[in-house]
This record gives sequence, C-alpha cells and structure tokens, in this order.
Amino acid sequence: MTFKKNILCIGAGYVGGPTMAMIAHKCPQYKVTVVDINPTRIAEWNSDDLPIYEPGLDEVVKAVRGKNLFFSTEIEKGIRESEIIFVSVNTPTKTFGAGAGMAADLQYWEKTARQILQNSESNKIIVEKSTLPVKTALAMERILTSTGNEVRFDVLSNPEFLAEGTAIKDLENPDRVLIGSRETPSGLKARDELVEIYANWMPKDRIITSNIWSSELSKLVSNAFLAQKISSINAISALCEKADADVTEVARAVGMDSRLGSKFLNASVGFGGSCFKKDILNLVYLCRYYGLEEVADYWHGVVGINDYQKERFVLNMMNAMFNTLAGKKICLFGFAFKADTGDTRESPAIFISKRLLEERAELVITDPKALDNAKTDLDGVVGKISYINDPYEASAGCDAIAVMTEWNLYAQLDFEKSYSSMVKPAFLFDGRNILDHKRLYEIGFNVFPIGKPPMTHF
Ligand code: UDX
Ligand code: UDX
Repeated sequence: MTFKKNILCIGAGYVGGPTMAMIAHKCPQYKVTVVDINPTRIAEWNSDDLPIYEPGLDEVVKAVRGKNLFFSTEIEKGIRESEIIFVSVNTPTKTFGAGAGMAADLQYWEKTARQILQNSESNKIIVEKSTLPVKTALAMERILTSTGNEVRFDVLSNPEFLAEGTAIKDLENPDRVLIGSRETPSGLKARDELVEIYANWMPKDRIITSNIWSSELSKLVSNAFLAQKISSINAISALCEKADADVTEVARAVGMDSRLGSKFLNASVGFGGSCFKKDILNLVYLCRYYGLEEVADYWHGVVGINDYQKERFVLNMMNAMFNTLAGKKICLFGFAFKADTGDTRESPAIFISKRLLEERAELVITDPKALDNAKTDLDGVVGKISYINDPYEASAGCDAIAVMTEWNLYAQLDFEKSYSSMVKPAFLFDGRNILDHKRLYEIGFNVFPIGKPPMTHF
C-alpha cells in the first residue's frame, strides 16, 4: 500500500508514543514511524507489554501497529524517508554549568537537529513537540540551514497538552491544538499541512495557529498557570488547618466562579510530573535572562509553595506522631505522581520517602503501577524500605498510612481490615483528600487530611 505521507517521530516516550499512535489511528492514509535511540524502549513498543501505562493506549496501538504505525531504531532511514518529522526527545532541566537547576538541557535536541540535517535529501517539515525554551525554533533553523545545501526545512511549534493518565482522551478530544509557524509563505504552507493532519479528527475551530514564539511560550505559560492554581489552593490549605476552615469547601465556593473554574483546585501533598516544575523553572530562567526579576520571583513562588507543601506534610506527620518517627513503620499508599499512570517523575512521594527515611522511619510502599519506578527512584537511599503490591498486606503492622496518589482503589478499600492489623494508635494522613475521613475516624484511625481539621481520639 502506498501512503499519502510519511510521518516520523523522534523520541518514543510518554509524549511521542501516544501522540503518534493517535495520529496513526485517525489517519490510516499516513505512515507513522516512531524511532528512538533506546532499543529496549522500541522493543517494548513492539511487544505486548508497552513501556508506559496509559488507559486505552494498548487498544489504539494494537489496532494500528504493523499497519500504519511502526516502531524502529533506524533513525537515519526514518529521517530520509519522511516528509514531516516530529521531535519529542526529552529536554530535562540542566544539571551542570550555566543555568544548572533552571534552564533546559538542550543537548539531545541539538544532536537530533544535526542528525536530521545530515540525513535529509528532500524538503522536510520539522515539528517541535517537546516543551522547549522560547526561541528554540530559531536555534533549530540555524542548525538546519548551516550547510547551505538545497534542502528546505520549515520548523513548526506544536506543543503537546496531554496529561498523563488521560493521554488518549486528551489526544482524541483536546481543548485545542496549537500550531505556531513563521509567517512566511513556506512557513504558512507547512502550518497548513500540519492543520490538515489534525483536521482528520478535530473540528477546525479548535485548531489554533499563532506565531512560532507565542506557541512556544504558550506551553510554558499553560503549565505555569495550571501549577499556580494548585500552589494557590495548597497555600490556602495551610491556612485552613490553622483557621478551622475546610479547604474542600473553600475550593468549591471559589471554583464555582466561572472566571476561576473548578478544576485544578484539589489541595494535595504537592504537584509532581515531568513538566510543571521544569517548565516553570524554564519560565523563571527566561524572565531572569531578560532582566525581569519581579516576574521571575512571582513564578518561582509557585515552585516554592510546592516544596513547602511537601515539607509541611512530613512535619505534620511528625507532629501528630508525638514528634518522632524513628523506628515507626509508615505505609505509603501510592508512589506515582498522579493516578492512572506508573510514572513517578518528580512525584511528591520521592521527596516524602527520603524525608521520612531521614527521620529514621521504616517505609512500606504500595502502588498498583509504579513499584518498579519507585525502586529505581529510591535505589541507594539509606534506610529500610519494602515494596508490596497488596495494600492490606502493605499496611499490616504499620503505625501509619500516608496517601500519596489518588488511585481510585484506595477509596474502595476495607479500612476496617487494614485497621485491625495495624499498630495502635493508628494514623492516617490523606495527602489527596480522597478517603471518607469521618468513617475512618469511626473505625478508630486518627485522621489528618490536607487543609481540614484533624480528627483524633486523643
Ligand atoms: C516529553 C516532552 O517531549 C518533553 O519536552 C517534556 O518536557 C516532557 O515530556 P517524554 O515523552 O515524557 O517527554 O520524555 P521521555 O519519556 O523521556 O521520552 C523521550 C524519549 O526520547 C526517550 O525514549 C529517549 O530515549 C528518546 N531520545 C532521547 C532519543 O530518541 N534521542 C535522543 O537524542 C534523546
Ligand atoms: C501536565 C499538564 O496538565 C498537561 O497539559 C501538560 O501537557 C503536561 O503537564 P501532567 O503532569 O501529566 O500534565 O498531569 P496533571 O494532571 O497536570 O497533574 C500534575 C500534578 O498536579 C499531579 O501530581 C497531580 O496529582 C497534581 N494535581 C493536579 C493536584 O495536586 N491538584 C489538582 O487539583 C490537580
């Protein structure tokens, strides 16, 4: 069968994999190939056991894999044969040199740009999918035009807004797709080609276009605004605990103002995930670069409150448990940074585990999808940790349960059963406010929600 177009995606991660699976699923006329430097990852994408857990992903991949969706390690061949190349390699925070801890590490990105240049024999459209600092497209264009050969490259920015755990739903029915381009005739033509792909399943009015710098910046700003809502409500949760208010009631009242909206107002132990912190720090770095100190400080505060919230959670635990955690056994319910994913990048559970171990507590960690990642994250950390799949078995013999992830299964457990096998007095710290606190209290637990008065038997 001949395909209308050949699409390539470099980077088979959380973003590249699901996004390309959806394009292949919705556009049978296009051949979609996903390549990666990591052969193990590609082998997993070609197996029955996909490298990431995402509800609905297996079905989509299995329906199109081998038909018009292919996973391969042949990056150079893929580049030669494609007309449109998506780049979704990771862009972690720099750990060295100038901008360490703040700026994005663009070494993979630049290496990929050079690889594209070296292997291109025909014109290509390059689509930035990775979240990048503003003006990265310019760097990409400079690399791609550095040899002055005949091949023309048009660079587009098409940031991904999917959230993990709901990636398939978000890809199928996104609030918007954003495409940024140069406003030159060839930039606009390239933009139209990308619009045509999304128009296979999306109403045209939800595909918005802008200049390329606005598009790059919109991604950072979207994540900063989302994280800001969480840090705002988390800051208020601390006040609620002092003022005998209930943060859920406050969030409901605030969120019903349609100008503010009810989503992203769940107080929690803190936000995690690969994007929020990294993107805000990128934004802060960008502001400082332009000398906008006040603007930088404002956004940096969003990360500051998140760190405060995680530390506060540990201090609340310690305070409740008679000011010492040494030798106490604490069971963490969940390790993923949110429900419905096995991803643990920047999960608040990592910080909290390390802090609890520092206080010489013993940890038992349970999670339906993230135990392997948890083991990697805590590899080499000093202290006693065990990993147990079954939540009843995990909490047996423990002094406290601390909910880290809002997995639905935790709300459905028989807590009477857990309580009966725990050390007394038994404590429950609900870092996600997902449990029935009154019922837990009646069972006998001393209950500490986020942003609500504790319920204790003392
Ligand atoms: C995404 C976005 O692309 C990133 O910009 C955003 O900030 C975080 O989310 P994600 O898909 O989650 O990244 O990253 P990851 O799961 O680490 O996948 C990236 C893939 O790119 C990896 O499989 C890695 O092996 C691959 N890669 C990396 C290459 O193929 N080539 C490289 O040069 C570097
Ligand atoms: C985010 C953005 O939502 C997405 O648009 C972007 O493309 C990538 O970054 P993701 O990190 O996958 O997606 O998950 P998200 O649902 O945004 O949750 C981020 C963190 O915030 C999680 O740790 C979550 O538990 C936490 N959160 C979310 C809260 O603590 N309270 C809330 O009300 C909502």
